[in-house]
Amino acid sequence: MSEQSKFVLSENNIPKRWYNINADMPVPPNPVLHPATLEPVTPDFLSVLFPMEIIMQEISTDQYIDIPDEVRDVYKLYRPTPLLRAVRLEKALGTPAHIYYKYEGVSPVGSHKPNTAIPQAFYNKAAGTKALTTETGAGQWGSALAFAGSLFDIAVEVYMVKVSYQQKPYRRILMETYGADVYASPTDRTQYGQSLLQENPEHPGSLGIAISEAVEVAATSEGKKKYSLGSVLGHVLTHQSVIGEESLMQMDLAGEYPDVVIGCVGGGSNFAGIAYPFLRHNLKDGKQTRLLAVEPDAAPSLTQGSFAFDYGDTAKMAPVVKMHTLGHSFVPAPIHAGGLRYHGMAPSLCALYDAGYIEAVAVSQLATFEAAVLFARNEGIVPAPESAHAIRAAIDEALDAKQKGDKRVILFNLSGHGHFDLSAYEGYLAGQLKDYKLPKQEVDAALAELPQVSIPA
Ligand SMILES: Cc1ncc(COP(=O)(O)O)c(C=O)c1O
Repeated sequence: MSEQSKFVLSENNIPKRWYNINADMPVPPNPVLHPATLEPVTPDFLSVLFPMEIIMQEISTDQYIDIPDEVRDVYKLYRPTPLLRAVRLEKALGTPAHIYYKYEGVSPVGSHKPNTAIPQAFYNKAAGTKALTTETGAGQWGSALAFAGSLFDIAVEVYMVKVSYQQKPYRRILMETYGADVYASPTDRTQYGQSLLQENPEHPGSLGIAISEAVEVAATSEGKKKYSLGSVLGHVLTHQSVIGEESLMQMDLAGEYPDVVIGCVGGGSNFAGIAYPFLRHNLKDGKQTRLLAVEPDAAPSLTQGSFAFDYGDTAKMAPVVKMHTLGHSFVPAPIHAGGLRYHGMAPSLCALYDAGYIEAVAVSQLATFEAAVLFARNEGIVPAPESAHAIRAAIDEALDAKQKGDKRVILFNLSGHGHFDLSAYEGYLAGQLKDYKLPKQEVDAALAELPQVSIPA
C-alpha cells in the first residue's frame, strides 16, 4: 500500500489553549528595558502601544492561555492546517528519512502570521482600539494584520519597507484590498522618516526603520492608535503555539515522533510556534527532539550576533531586550526573504539557544532557492523564500541521514507559500540571484553601537 501523505484534523481539534513557554523556561528571564532610561519597563510604558490584555500575556507565567471563542471562530477559516509527509521529496533524495511538514500557507493570506494577527486584532477591539499601526518587510505580516483588522473593524496603517513596496506591488494591493493604508518606509509621515529622507531621499528602508515609524505614529497619537508587532515578542510566540500543538496530534496520527523539528527564523515566531510544544516534551517527558532554527547567512543573528541588550528598532524607540543581535543599525543585504531581514530575535529563543536547548544554522540564498525549487518540483507547493530556509535544512538533514543510513524523522514548518514572490523565483531561474554572506567587519561595526546596560546578565 502506498504511504499516507496527509494528516488532517477536524475543527474540534483546533487547540483551545495557547502554550506559554514562560512557564517552563529552564533559564531565568531577562528584564525588558525602557529605551530612554534603560531601566525595566512598566506596564504604563507598554500601555501606550499595546492593550492591557496583550501586556498581561507578555508577562504571564501561566503555562496555558485560553483562546477566546471569537478567535477560534476565525481560526476555523483555515485551521487546523494540514500536516503532510513529503513522500516524493524523500524518493527524489533517496533518503531513508521520513520528512513531514506542517503547511501554514493555507491561511487566507498565505502564511502563519494570522495566528497572532487575529488575536491581536480581537484584544485591541475589545479594548476599544480604533486603529493599529504596524510595519511589514515582505508583506506577509502586513497582509495578515490588514485581514484581521478587516474582520474586527479596525483601521490598519502599514509601514512597508521601501524596497519591498517597490518589488512587491501585489502584496500592497492585497493589504489595500483588505482596507489597509500602506506607506513606503521611510515616509515623510514621521519625524524619524523625515530625518532619514533628508539624508537620503532614495533611502531603501529596513524592518528596524519601519518598526520605528509605526511605533512613533502610535506613540504620538494621543491614545488613538495602538501598535502591533508580528514577531519577536512573547505573546506573538505564544499565539503561534497552535502550530506545534496541532503538529503533536498529527504526528500521533502518523504514528511517528520527530527526531528533529525545523523552522526558519526572522524574529522567531513560526519556529517557536512549531518547536516550543515539542520543547515542552523534552523538558517534561524526557523526549530528546532536536530543535533547529534556520537563518539566512546575510542576517545571521543567532549564529553570528552577540547575545546582548539591544533596541528592537533602529530609532531606539522600542523596548530594549536581551537577544542575539547584529546591532539595531544593521541594514541587511537585499536578499529575497524580506521576513528574515531583522537584526534581532525573540528573547526566549535566544536564551534557549544560548543555553543549548536549541540549535541554529545559517544557509545561503542560492542553496535556499535550490531547495525551494526541488521542493516545488516534487511536492507542488512553491514556498515563500523565508520558509525555503527550513526546507534547505530539512533536505540537509535528510541527506545526512542517507549518508549515515539513519531512519530519521524530520518535521519542518512550511510557514508560507511564495505566490507573491515569483519575481524572486524569476531572478533565481534566470541566474541573477547571488549570495550575500555578511562580512565579519560589518557585524563588528554594528555591534559597536549596542546600548551600555549595567543590569547583570
Ligand atoms: C512566510 C514567512 N515565514 C517566516 C517569516 C519570519 O518570521 P518569524 O521568524 O516571526 O516566523 C516571515 C516573516 O515575514 C514570513 O513571511
